[in-house]
Amino acid sequence: MSQPKLFDPYQLKNLELKNRLVMPPMCMYSANEDGIVTDFHRTHYCTRAIGGVGLIIVEATGIAPNGRISDGDLGLWDDSQIAGLQDLVAQIKSYDTHVGIQLNHGGRKYDGKLQAVAPSAIAFDDNYGIPNELTSVQIKEIVASFQKAAIRADKAGFDMIEIHGAHGYLINQFLSPHSNKRIDEYGGTLENRIRFLKEVIAAIRAVWPSSKTLGIRISAVEYLEDGYPLDEMVGILKQIRDDIDVIHVSTGGNGAASYHVYPGYQLKPAEVIKKEVGLPTIAVGLLDDIKLVEEVLNNDRADLVAIGRGLLANPYFAMQEGAKARISDMVPFQYARAFRK
Ligand SMILES: Cc1cc2nc3c(=O)[nH]c(=O)nc-3n(C[C@H](O)[C@H](O)[C@H](O)COP(=O)(O)O)c2cc1C
Repeated sequence: MSQPKLFDPYQLKNLELKNRLVMPPMCMYSANEDGIVTDFHRTHYCTRAIGGVGLIIVEATGIAPNGRISDGDLGLWDDSQIAGLQDLVAQIKSYDTHVGIQLNHGGRKYDGKLQAVAPSAIAFDDNYGIPNELTSVQIKEIVASFQKAAIRADKAGFDMIEIHGAHGYLINQFLSPHSNKRIDEYGGTLENRIRFLKEVIAAIRAVWPSSKTLGIRISAVEYLEDGYPLDEMVGILKQIRDDIDVIHVSTGGNGAASYHVYPGYQLKPAEVIKKEVGLPTIAVGLLDDIKLVEEVLNNDRADLVAIGRGLLANPYFAMQEGAKARISDMVPFQYARAFRK
């Protein structure tokens, strides 16, 4: 029997990944009050690295204090936040796991003590306050903050940046006609709604080493009557594909939508995007079953597979599946006896 494809290495631009398993960004609400890494992060991420994950993408990290999702998010808006991340990156890499960071601005979904901002002054829902509508000068300042955060991410030693363009946060808010009602050059037509994202990408590209990976996470579909459809997202990705190395395909998050969640629920749009856009993709969404992972990879529906909640519940998923498949590299020598009883 051949070994599971999950354990085939994968070359993602500069990253020689030892396998196809990605830990997707997941906020841990455990930064200190200055947005700095704590012991919890070191233990949490290193446990998944020891467990054999090929690529860890560190949780949504705010590029501005009110660009966080909650006040417990990590931040990269200040040089004082670099050292903690630098140490975290070095520790994760010592277990032969590559590491990226998701850069985020939460926009109207910031849920903390500061004032939230957004393309338009429309609250996400009744649980959130009304955000201030951004002026074009403030938009340029946010673009500059993404750039400064990218410089800091490079200094911290990250191999990859993932731009958070999904789940109803600021970039998604600009892209979607549901949340963007602007009548200036940032709203209305698709060309205008995509402008902010293009400016963010250009600003990051200008400082992020060309040898390093730049990815984007998107919500492929919004499940909203007045949101963008999949073919519009495909068109958006075609416009930016020359500057992006990998697409992480998620869905939803920009409004009150009800949709059915089941193993592989986001695979269909992931497959369309891989085929139409032609870039490497990461599939995600209740894929924490080796049979399903093998179905996805062997049928070429995605290049990499991310497991979120499954890795929160079981950091040793890769190690355990590797042991079952008798792949000795997947079991650290310290834990060998766990599988030899
Ligand atoms: C606790 C938690 C925090 C999350 N935080 C983020 C985040 O920071 N950025 C992001 O893009 N998605 C975030 N997500 C979504 C996950 O990355 C993932 O896409 C989602 O959980 C679906 O994958 P799964 O079914 O394998 O968990 C979060 C999910 C959970 C459960």
